[in-house]
Amino acid sequence: MKCNPITGFFGAEVTGLDLRKKIDTSVKKQLQNALSEHLVIVIREQWLDADQQRALAKIFGEPAVNPYAPGLPAYPEMTHIIKEAKERTGVFGGGWHTDLSFLDHPPRGSVLCAIEVPPFGGDTMFSSQHAAWDTLPEPFKIMLDGRKIAHVGKPYGVKWAPPIEEQSMKGSTKRGDPEADRERWHPAVLTHPVTGKKGLYINPTYALRIEGMSEEMSRPFLEELFRHTSLPEHCLRLRWSPGMVVIWDNYATQHYAINDYHGFRREMRRVAFKSGRLEEWSN
Ligand code: SIN
Repeated sequence: MKCNPITGFFGAEVTGLDLRKKIDTSVKKQLQNALSEHLVIVIREQWLDADQQRALAKIFGEPAVNPYAPGLPAYPEMTHIIKEAKERTGVFGGGWHTDLSFLDHPPRGSVLCAIEVPPFGGDTMFSSQHAAWDTLPEPFKIMLDGRKIAHVGKPYGVKWAPPIEEQSMKGSTKRGDPEADRERWHPAVLTHPVTGKKGLYINPTYALRIEGMSEEMSRPFLEELFRHTSLPEHCLRLRWSPGMVVIWDNYATQHYAINDYHGFRREMRRVAFKSGRLEEWSN
């Protein structure tokens, strides 16, 4: 297999693999290393079925059920991300976020497969939190290293829930859960256990406030951090094609599904995986 970097900071396109065949131990190791090094890996023309997708996720960790968007009984860990041509709502994941960072144990990463994509648009953006940390001004580094951030599940809770017409996948996601409003504290800075690289662990969808500060006091600092993490230099933008597979590190990246394809259908299948605990990434 070959890894071709996509940007100067992160992301790689992997070629020379057929993931529908049995994946041997040396390829598994290479894929794990590729994810550690590049944080987002893209493999085209794979056309995986649900079992093959689950087997791929297992290389990186145990498939994890999304408590707010579970799949079918036979594949509870598989979230179907569908926007129909006639829908005029928001999209699932349509804002910068890391998946489920408001849980005690957020998933470690995800495998996303494209089933049907619009003729244009429907791209996904990623941002490297390692790049964002490396380029962060020193006063921010001093302020955040060793501090915690409170995360809450705003879209799924009660207190901060968006208006119903802006909610995507209404029928297949759990909403109005007061438990999602509970603050969960995670380190603002994580260290990758394999590469030793530091990265920010904040995102505008779920991060609420900085340890020792109120929501109001935190707001200007968080806004500046969100602006910084989404700078074009820290991002990559993926154009999907059917059959494509993308695997991302959910502790070291944020992502954003772009909602610019009204009138066209888009269907994706996602399996998140867990491995170890977030605490192992603490300094
Ligand atoms: C997500 O996992 O947040 C959605 C990604 C996408 O549909 O592009």
